[in-house]
Amino acid sequence: MIELQGIHKSFGSLEVLSGIDLKINKGEVVSIVGPSGAGKTTLLQIMGTLYRPDGGNLVIDGQNVLKLNRRQLARFRNENIGFVFQFHQLLPEFTALENIMIPGLIARRPKSEIHRRADELLEFMGLTDRARHKPAQLSGGEKQRVAVARALMNEPAVVLADEPSGSLDSHNKAELHRLFFDLRDKYGQTFVIVTHDEELARITDRTIHLADGRVVDEELSLITATEETSAEKDEPEYD
Ligand SMILES: Nc1ncnc2c1ncn2[C@@H]1O[C@H](COP(=O)(O)OP(=O)(O)OP(=O)(O)O)[C@@H](O)[C@H]1O
Ligand SMILES: [Mg+2]
Repeated sequence: MIELQGIHKSFGSLEVLSGIDLKINKGEVVSIVGPSGAGKTTLLQIMGTLYRPDGGNLVIDGQNVLKLNRRQLARFRNENIGFVFQFHQLLPEFTALENIMIPGLIARRPKSEIHRRADELLEFMGLTDRARHKPAQLSGGEKQRVAVARALMNEPAVVLADEPSGSLDSHNKAELHRLFFDLRDKYGQTFVIVTHDEELARITDRTIHLADGRVVDEELSLITATEETSAEKDEPEYD
């Protein structure tokens, strides 16, 4: 789904990424962890085609994205990649419903279709009765769920999230994390999540450790979120 080969990126004389090789499969939920300044956000921005690497190859869904021009890239991004930022970045003057619809409007999809999809996403997020609220009238957890719904508007193959639960309390955090796995199960999306949250990293399918611009470790999770849930469900049988 996402393939990076020998990705290099420097800002001036500072080399932030020194040769990243990664392969992320369709439907995988991957976390990226590492110390502050390790290059996690830079790597995510490169995967999201927001930054151009100085060297290396980037293939997303079979498309060599570094060969696309600006216009083609903007279109590719709008159609294939959903972003969730640490601070939701919703537009304050628009309602939850309108915020969710925006990527669909940019893609010039028919308005009735966008509206239907937004309603479906609001329902999936348990936000139907908050549709007409503006961001200032929503709780932190609700805002973050609206931001996730917005990222999913165009049914992107890939969702990239940068510390999505960073500003949430533990309850909302756990709910948002659960949501990622539900979405993967329902829509088959691929998630790449930069996080400082150990609990989230523990339940993702794979954790990529970044340090000094390199992948220093990759660990497969022994316990998946789905297994954890079924293990919980199985418990009463042993009573
Ligand atoms: N646009 C930029 N111009 C110059 N330097 C940058 C730019 N963006 C990032 N950097 C530098 O690159 C390094 C990596 O930054 P990055 O944001 O990728 O780190 P990070 O791993 O996401 O850290 P954090 O956990 O604190 O978010 C840092 O030293 C940062 O100061
Ligand atoms: Mg960062």
